[in-house]
Amino acid sequence: MRMRRKKWAQPFLYAHPEYALTDPKNNAGLWKQLLGCKRLHVEIGTGKGDYLNTMSAMYPEEGWVGIEKEHNAAAVGCRKALEDTVHDTGNRRMIIGYAEDMLEWFAPHEIDVIHLNFSDPWPKKYAHKRRLSSEKFLEMYRILLNENGSLRMKTDNKSLFEDSVLYFLEDGWQLTEFSVDYRRTPHPEDAITEYENRFMSLNQPIYQLAAVCRTVKKEM
Ligand SMILES: C[S@@+](CC[C@H](N)C(=O)[O-])C[C@H]1O[C@@H](n2cnc3c(N)ncnc32)[C@H](O)[C@@H]1O
Repeated sequence: MRMRRKKWAQPFLYAHPEYALTDPKNNAGLWKQLLGCKRLHVEIGTGKGDYLNTMSAMYPEEGWVGIEKEHNAAAVGCRKALEDTVHDTGNRRMIIGYAEDMLEWFAPHEIDVIHLNFSDPWPKKYAHKRRLSSEKFLEMYRILLNENGSLRMKTDNKSLFEDSVLYFLEDGWQLTEFSVDYRRTPHPEDAITEYENRFMSLNQPIYQLAAVCRTVKKEM
């Protein structure tokens, strides 16, 4: 659902260029140095940033970068991060832009974990190629993840989940985690996202997987 326009959002983002980045080409290959970490996480489609902010506070020794195309949502997350005086935000950053441009912002094999949380399901067949777990994106993640890297996905959408399992397997990924009711058992190590909270309160199951791409894709 598109958020109502917030007049303060754009000026706020422009006022914090050290945190809210619009085209961080110069950071490619240098993210771990910049964030002072050995492991780099990237969350695509942060929405209002609850997951990024909570996880970066829970794991201060790891680096966290969020990507969000909507200025209004991104600004809410950035404001929460920058107003958080308890936790140091030195290990997190936000990129305001489209994930489609990731190859310009990160060097090959720079990322350890990619998180897709409640990505837009794009239910119409003609729009499946826009799904963040579709083939075009998997090709890009394969370049960006390091050899031990993994992708973690959570969704409430059964069709998106089932289709995504096929996308991963057809593209030569291996599933290392798979659940059709992830929150039935406690996962205190993994923060609950804003959308996840909404679906959990409606008693809807959360679908979850993790995948690795160690195999080289077979040529057809
Ligand atoms: C359904 S919301 C989920 C938000 C959050 N991850 C959560 O779980 O609460 C999906 C978010 O992904 C963002 N998004 C979708 N496609 C994107 C893309 N290609 N690049 C960057 N952000 C994207 C949308 O703007 C939206 O804020």
